[in-house]
Amino acid sequence: MTMAETEQLAQKLQALGLNDTTVGVLPGSNPVQNPVDLFRSYISGELSKISGIDQEVIFAALEFSNQPERGDLVLPVPRLRIKDKKGGELVALANEWVSKFPQDSLIEKAVAKGPFIQFFFSGSVLYKLVVRDILTRKADYGASTVGKGQKVVIEFSSPNIAKPFHAGHLRSTIIGGFLSHLHEKLGYDVVSLNYLGDWGKQFGILAVGYKRYGDAAKLEEDPINHLFEVYVMVNKEITEEKEKSKAETGTEESATDDEARSYFKKMEDGDEEALGLWKKFRELSIEKYRETYGRLNIRYDQYRGESLVPKETMELAQKQFAEKNLITDDNGAKLIDLTPYSKKLGKTIVQKRDGTSLYLTRDVGEAIARHNEYKFDKMIYVIASQQDLHTAQFFKILELMGYEWSERLQHINFGLVLGMSTRKGTVVFLDTILEETKQAMHEVMKRNEEKYKQIPDPDKVADLVGIAAVVIQDMQSKRINNYNFNWNRMLSFEGDTGPYLQYAHARLRSMERKAAEQGIVLESQADIDSIDVSKLTEPIAKEMIRCLVSYPDVLLMALRNMEPSTVVTYLFKLTHLVSSCYDVLWVAGQEKDVATARLALYSAARQVLHNGLTIVGLTPVDRM
Ligand code: ARG
Repeated sequence: MTMAETEQLAQKLQALGLNDTTVGVLPGSNPVQNPVDLFRSYISGELSKISGIDQEVIFAALEFSNQPERGDLVLPVPRLRIKDKKGGELVALANEWVSKFPQDSLIEKAVAKGPFIQFFFSGSVLYKLVVRDILTRKADYGASTVGKGQKVVIEFSSPNIAKPFHAGHLRSTIIGGFLSHLHEKLGYDVVSLNYLGDWGKQFGILAVGYKRYGDAAKLEEDPINHLFEVYVMVNKEITEEKEKSKAETGTEESATDDEARSYFKKMEDGDEEALGLWKKFRELSIEKYRETYGRLNIRYDQYRGESLVPKETMELAQKQFAEKNLITDDNGAKLIDLTPYSKKLGKTIVQKRDGTSLYLTRDVGEAIARHNEYKFDKMIYVIASQQDLHTAQFFKILELMGYEWSERLQHINFGLVLGMSTRKGTVVFLDTILEETKQAMHEVMKRNEEKYKQIPDPDKVADLVGIAAVVIQDMQSKRINNYNFNWNRMLSFEGDTGPYLQYAHARLRSMERKAAEQGIVLESQADIDSIDVSKLTEPIAKEMIRCLVSYPDVLLMALRNMEPSTVVTYLFKLTHLVSSCYDVLWVAGQEKDVATARLALYSAARQVLHNGLTIVGLTPVDRM
């Protein structure tokens, strides 16, 4: 802990009226920012004095319990792995320690149950701590400094220019966006990259097609769709030519295809004119993508691309392949045989007969270039599990080339989306999906005329709620699972959907507005200091507080498993609890102290919901 943090911790304890309590802080724990860590640090410190066991060992063994009647934190004594002690001896130890444990300030009581010790947080301290922390730190609640000083590069989305932005890219975008927000919140220095598929023979095809069918105005207006249109037309032509030639001569010849090949050759040779057109396609596409990513709260630090992999690193890679004896020659093509390391990895081509580069080689060169540029502590690739083999191959190749940093590469994969198409059933671009969802959402909103009239900017709200529908559907279960793209389910306000979460937020906002009309406001520090948490006596209030206090740990868990569903599942639990609170904890018509305390609880819940939605990439709405 830095001096500033020690100071902050002391202030925090003082504000809670715990002037005599000292908390022994371990490296890696975070008692200033994470209330549960405050309790963990205190318990492990005290128990270490009593038992002589390392504080760290105790800290790590403490579990946040799901059954508050059995304690808030539980210590399974066997997990301390005390030498030569078992069974009844552990039970005796638990009893002995409990009898010596100070039961005053932070911990109301400690209870031994067999070889388990149940620690019950002091209710008044816990409530005060949680409510104050959330209402004063606001968007910062949940943030921490665990990643401080570490640079993480995250590559995600990476669509191919002139080809559909398919479901795989959508998932990569959503999951990657989540991972960048999460890492940022946890103090990492994040570099976000988009690695465009912007090189290869298809650009020769596209250029030839553009000369025949291109329309400059359409290109400016809607580059992504127009380029795709052109690409489809010229491909059709190539197929027809090949079929015709096959019928006539028995071989598949296509003049258009030959033209495309030589065009791409010119590009590879650096021909200015050939490159000029390609640059224009690339730039206009990026401009359009930027807008769409913006709707999803995603910004990139860099648009890289297969076309921009530096020649030097590619040549260096080829040289190192040879030096490390990795290459075997196969009729002029160059192979790396990875089977000695793992059968599954197989053999893979790293250079074609004509000397042109390949997707895999570009990934090798690109990784080296990124390491030179960023010297990252970690680099994450968010790519569909269809490319598991490809990714494992280039990671292994980098390792064999002797790059120790290849250990710091991580592939975050995910399953398929089944049936993602527009409602008319045609191919999709992300943009079209978002547009359609927005319109559908707008229709749903219009059905409630009364409410609809009160929304100042329904178009914007429909957009934000529609995006929530798409994103939450994607994050509902573990990344690796496939799911069905289901318009009806995803747009519903009922069940665990994005619109449901947005609605929960808007409803809490509305409650805050109504309370403000009655003169209950929780803005200033004085307002917050005046909250009397002892008015929160109901069991459901306790459940809510315990849910709120676990949020910082939920983020850490998500960092470990890189699963957006960890956060989303938590948000559903939170909103379900809010909904149960509405039945019991009324604000309107209550005596002022009670109303204020309850509003504080709702406001804290709203803030945490807000923070969670932001991490998954959404913009919470205030009305809907
Ligand atoms: N553009 C590729 C595709 O659409 C995805 C790129 C993934 N990233 C990478 N470094 N290979 O299939």
